[in-house]
Amino acid sequence: MSVSTSVAHRPKRVFSGIQPSGNFHLGNYLGAIRNWVNQQGQFDNVFCIVDLHALSLPTTRETLRANTLHLANVLLAAGIDPDASILFVQSDVREHTELCWLLNSVTQYGELRRMTQFKDKTSGKNDEQVSAALFDYPVLQAADILLYDTELVPVGEDQKQHIELTRDAAARFNARYGETFVLPEPDIKAEGARIMSLEDPTKKMSKSDASPNAAIALADSPDVIRKKIRRAVTDSGSAVVAAPDKPALTNLLTIYSLLSGEPVAAIEQRYIGKGYGAFKSDLGEIVVEALTPMQERLRELEANPELSQIALAAGAARARERAAAKMTVVRDRMGIGIGRS
Ligand code: AMP
Ligand code: TRP
Repeated sequence: MSVSTSVAHRPKRVFSGIQPSGNFHLGNYLGAIRNWVNQQGQFDNVFCIVDLHALSLPTTRETLRANTLHLANVLLAAGIDPDASILFVQSDVREHTELCWLLNSVTQYGELRRMTQFKDKTSGKNDEQVSAALFDYPVLQAADILLYDTELVPVGEDQKQHIELTRDAAARFNARYGETFVLPEPDIKAEGARIMSLEDPTKKMSKSDASPNAAIALADSPDVIRKKIRRAVTDSGSAVVAAPDKPALTNLLTIYSLLSGEPVAAIEQRYIGKGYGAFKSDLGEIVVEALTPMQERLRELEANPELSQIALAAGAARARERAAAKMTVVRDRMGIGIGRS
């Protein structure tokens, strides 16, 4: 029987990860975190704070630690239930780094060199400024996913290529050593998978944007949120419509629709003849209303840091058990680990 054969009525196994690298924004929320929360009851979920991935760019001990704990609180505040889902920090489960090395042997230099995220993050830099970790980043991601026999990976559009690489590495491993890994599918929603910058709707909303007005941070105050939406670029004309030649309005309407639950067409109808000003002012309130309860929970969690620590310790213990069992099989298939009892 193939390892990918799914058992009837068993919830699908989901794995996703997010880097603890700074300012989480509305794109992260709408493209990833919110979907994780919404699908919690439906699947067998493992959510991982990928601190080892964050080491691929220069950081410090203090920053990484603070960002990791902050992200744990953000995820809990957004509604991840640590009893229903496994929530843990990647470096707490050593099997991730071990499997990364092993998968390096079935991953090709050429395919890593072609990764868009690698090309984006290295463009304009010389080779001496780029860590080998940044190059190897997708293999660690493949290890994350394959360790848990993952079937579905809920992510934003930008991660599709990394999931394809994971499937290719898994298929190569299976062909060489026998059926071992499940081939995962990306779970990318049609809406929200690519929230764009508020200043340039041809670029995705990104943590690394130099301009503070390009992204709405999940921690922005109501006034800052309103101001950023008011200042968001719009398209020529004055009609509030989503269309291929109106990328800015399409992006704002997508945000409005996802947060209000109303279809884009209904929103367009309501703003006929009203212009951008009224639309943006209402959108500002919708974003504030969506983020405020989460921010309140975040403040509570930050005042009680032991809550996230307890959740992460329990999550790591559960993840470790699954990861260790998988590694026993992998090591045996590959013929490594002779002297271990
Ligand atoms: P990152 O910010 O690259 O660590 O991404 C964390 C998660 O958020 C991944 O699932 C990304 O695909 C998703 N994500 C990041 N930026 C966006 C965006 N602008 N729109 C939608 N999803 C995004
Ligand atoms: N590379 C992902 C990102 O930048 C984060 C990530 C690491 C991830 N490991 C993963 C996402 C495994 C999904 C599954 O967003």
